[in-house]
Amino acid sequence: MTTVDSIDLSQLRVLVVDDEADIRLGLRRLATSLGAEVSDAEDGVAALEQLVQSGADVVLTDLMMPRMSGAELLVEVKRRSPETAVVILTGYGTIPSAVSCLQNGAAHFLTKPFDNAEVLRLVERLGRQVLAQRPQAAHTVHAGGRAIVAEDPRMRSVLELVTRVAPTPVSVLVEGESGTGKELVARAVHAASGVADRPFLAVNAAALSDTLLESELFGHERGAFTGAERRHDGVFAQARGGTVFLDEVASMSPSFQGKLLRVLQEHVVRPVGGNAEIPVEFRLIAATNRELEAMIATGAFREDLFYRLGVVRIAVPPLRERPADVPALAEHFLRTAARVSLGPNAPVPRVSAAALATLTAHAWRGNVRELENTIQRAVIVCTDGTIEPWHLGLDRGGWSPSAGEEVDYSTGKQRAVAAFQSEFVRRALEKAHGNVSHAAEACGLTRAALQRIMRQLGIERETFSA
Ligand SMILES: Nc1ncnc2c1ncn2[C@@H]1O[C@H](COP(=O)(O)OP(=O)(O)OP(=O)(O)O)[C@@H](O)[C@H]1O
Ligand SMILES: [Mg+2]
Repeated sequence: MTTVDSIDLSQLRVLVVDDEADIRLGLRRLATSLGAEVSDAEDGVAALEQLVQSGADVVLTDLMMPRMSGAELLVEVKRRSPETAVVILTGYGTIPSAVSCLQNGAAHFLTKPFDNAEVLRLVERLGRQVLAQRPQAAHTVHAGGRAIVAEDPRMRSVLELVTRVAPTPVSVLVEGESGTGKELVARAVHAASGVADRPFLAVNAAALSDTLLESELFGHERGAFTGAERRHDGVFAQARGGTVFLDEVASMSPSFQGKLLRVLQEHVVRPVGGNAEIPVEFRLIAATNRELEAMIATGAFREDLFYRLGVVRIAVPPLRERPADVPALAEHFLRTAARVSLGPNAPVPRVSAAALATLTAHAWRGNVRELENTIQRAVIVCTDGTIEPWHLGLDRGGWSPSAGEEVDYSTGKQRAVAAFQSEFVRRALEKAHGNVSHAAEACGLTRAALQRIMRQLGIERETFSA
């Protein structure tokens, strides 16, 4: 069991909302000193956007603000995220409104000017309470507010490597199939680095032509090309010591690869259309879903750049090679999908043992992203609170020749037929709310024939009765 004292406050997300900049700054500093991840907003509307984007465990909000008051914000926060603790900050004039906020679910109110020690004690206490209730997989790290699930030993060693390289300034190359979580790993490196408070800027090399990539990364002077109406700082300059995430590096042309190599060696860029070189400071994390070594062999990728990018290489294994992650990821996506699709207070559907077996056996070509989409769909399709295999929409037959195991033709056919029957019959029974006669009629079977199939496949009518 998680005890309140053993909780690590670095997982705590605090959101500070006030229209006065110095109050925001003061509260930010206090919460940061607890080790929490702190963000701020200058009114209720901006605060809600932040909340939707990155969530919050504790919200400290002023009452009187333009656009949306603290009292209105409280109602919205509680509606979307009931577990979040909201603290109202109030001047003496607004104490009655603050008191009425307590009736609407606020955890506490503090009167201005605050006593710093009191603020600290309160945020710490509320923070520990909220975190103790937050459901957590046994092994998660956070990448800027987003959890990375890692139950499988292979994924755990990836995260160990992340923890080891993060504090060093070396370039990192993240390799792995599409949808395995490369960008999340890159964000985790940044979040655990010494420059986590500086920018993390992502650029996808595959989405831009050479010319655009150059001006995006290196910047350009005014009038450098048609449409360049003002000068623009490139991403390398904007990073200001933070991290640049360069995705899909395999799609850079060899000539652009040469330009990038020079920047990495000399730490200067020459903006497009400019003469002067400007110094830049950033940490580069590159990602690819291609085998760069094979591209080096054919001359499509520069070997010298490869060694520069991959001072440390992190290989993110495909999901089918880390089966222990499947149930944990499914659980994680289930909670998010249920909250988004069914509402914050709706019960989270459970996954039946059969559905879990289907998920674990699936070949996941699209990796974690495919699993995420599958769960999102299943949450919408399933109506009775339990996700069954036929809600997943995977391998329509339930068994496919690609599942890995070698079987002879007749066994394969038998399994495929059984899987088809099972899905067909279950759907019919589900539609008929477990009424066998109605289901049989809808399938064009006699009641007796349907019952025989149900017996063979071990399908029970009761599972489907409303
Ligand atoms: N271990 C994980 N825990 C939680 N969510 C994950 C994990 N791995 C991936 N995801 C989620 O799966 C999706 C795909 O991850 P991400 O974008 O990082 O993959 P990628 O390897 O960069 O994909 P691509 O090659 O398509 O760019 C994202 O929504 C991400 O949040
Ligand atoms: Mg990506």
